[in-house]
Amino acid sequence: MSRLNTVCALDLGTTKVCCAIAEYDGEDLHILGLGEVPTRGIRKGAVVDIDLAAEAVAEAVDAAEQVAGIPIDAVVVGFSGGRITSANSRGVVAVAGARREVRDADVDRVLEAARAISVPSDQRIVHVLPQQFTVDGQEGVKDAIGMSGSRLEVDAHIIMGSNTALNNVIKVAHAAGLEVEDVALQGIASAEAVIQEEEMERGVVVADIGGGTTDIAIYRKGSLIATSVIPVGGNHVTGDLAVGLRCDLDAAEEVKRRAGHCLQLTVPADVMITMTPMGYDASVQVPARYLAEIIGPRAREMAMLIQQAITKTGPASLYAGGVVLTGGGALLRGFPEVVQQETDLPCRVAAPFDVDGIGHEMRDPQYATLVGLLRWGTRSIRVAHVKGKKQQRAFNVTGTTRHNQTQVSERLNRWFRDLFTPSSKGN
Ligand SMILES: Nc1ncnc2c1ncn2[C@@H]1O[C@H](COP(=O)(O)OP(=O)(O)OP(=O)(O)O)[C@@H](O)[C@H]1O
Ligand SMILES: [Mg+2]
Repeated sequence: MSRLNTVCALDLGTTKVCCAIAEYDGEDLHILGLGEVPTRGIRKGAVVDIDLAAEAVAEAVDAAEQVAGIPIDAVVVGFSGGRITSANSRGVVAVAGARREVRDADVDRVLEAARAISVPSDQRIVHVLPQQFTVDGQEGVKDAIGMSGSRLEVDAHIIMGSNTALNNVIKVAHAAGLEVEDVALQGIASAEAVIQEEEMERGVVVADIGGGTTDIAIYRKGSLIATSVIPVGGNHVTGDLAVGLRCDLDAAEEVKRRAGHCLQLTVPADVMITMTPMGYDASVQVPARYLAEIIGPRAREMAMLIQQAITKTGPASLYAGGVVLTGGGALLRGFPEVVQQETDLPCRVAAPFDVDGIGHEMRDPQYATLVGLLRWGTRSIRVAHVKGKKQQRAFNVTGTTRHNQTQVSERLNRWFRDLFTPSSKGN
């Protein structure tokens, strides 16, 4: 039987901070625990207050640990906010060794060679994702290891994140007593949770509509070719409604989920909704069409930004797999139709698949990033199966391995304390 590994993921979203703990048997993810709290200290995907964000993280992790019944000390964490840039790059090396057979070390070297691009001083490379290898001129090789040849080339998609944004994410995890095992761009994590390889092959655009950002990942011929983060999300729709209906954000959020729609004409003219504007003692009736009148332009703006991200990479005809929407904001009624009209591509809303255990809770678009981060973590397990190598991967602000025994044991103490005094968590 395969050995069980535990994987933990942390999603620092603009609206929610959530943590999941899963077991991985080499094939499937079995979710053991999920903890979620409203976000504090994060705006538009970027950390703006480390202490507040760390408090939220500790609470979400506590909740996940309680459900799973095991303590955790390391997580795979997603990042999004701040300036994220990406570029495609090519690396070339000579295959080493007398047998002229591509080995792990050659692949490592060629990926290293692909990193030789100019990186702005306030940014650093976070991902080097191979798109295809070329061995002695033969293009389109997905797995070069074991192939014979003397010249190895790689086309890679390079993702760079702002040093500040990345350091702050890592600081938040450390402040909550957690090691950072790996970081992954939220948009890529979401895509991994909701689309199949066959769709990546056909060409597909994944857009995670979060609260504060829309994270885009574009795939062609099985590889990631472009990523971007648009600073607009579902919270902007809520903000527009709050202004239009003269109510507070909580009321606007509730009305949006209950009766919001992007397409005015699909809402019958006589449907009324009940709500209480600010300063009113009693509730009033508002035509549901009026909500659509407010939501429609913002939805169209978001769809146009998705369309622009697609156009930068080529014509829509390259994406037979269409647009896949995920993230909580994708639940806005009528939004897939608007995206379909703007992009001229088929569009569907997708939730994470292939998660069992308590995973049924996570088959919801808002958990796409979290499930994707778990999958990302399983890949680290596969790649770094030697424990020493895995420890070297631990991220920290200065770039050296962090092993803070005190903080880990503090977390263990906290966990046992909470386990034996559940009432202390009350209210
Ligand atoms: N049923 C619904 N109808 C419309 N919008 C919804 C619904 N459920 C959630 N949302 C919206 O989804 C957004 C939150 O999505 P999600 O949880 O994916 O964001 P996040 O990960 O916290 O944020 P981000 O990814 O931007 O950092 C909010 O704007 C919320 O209003
Ligand atoms: Mg998100």
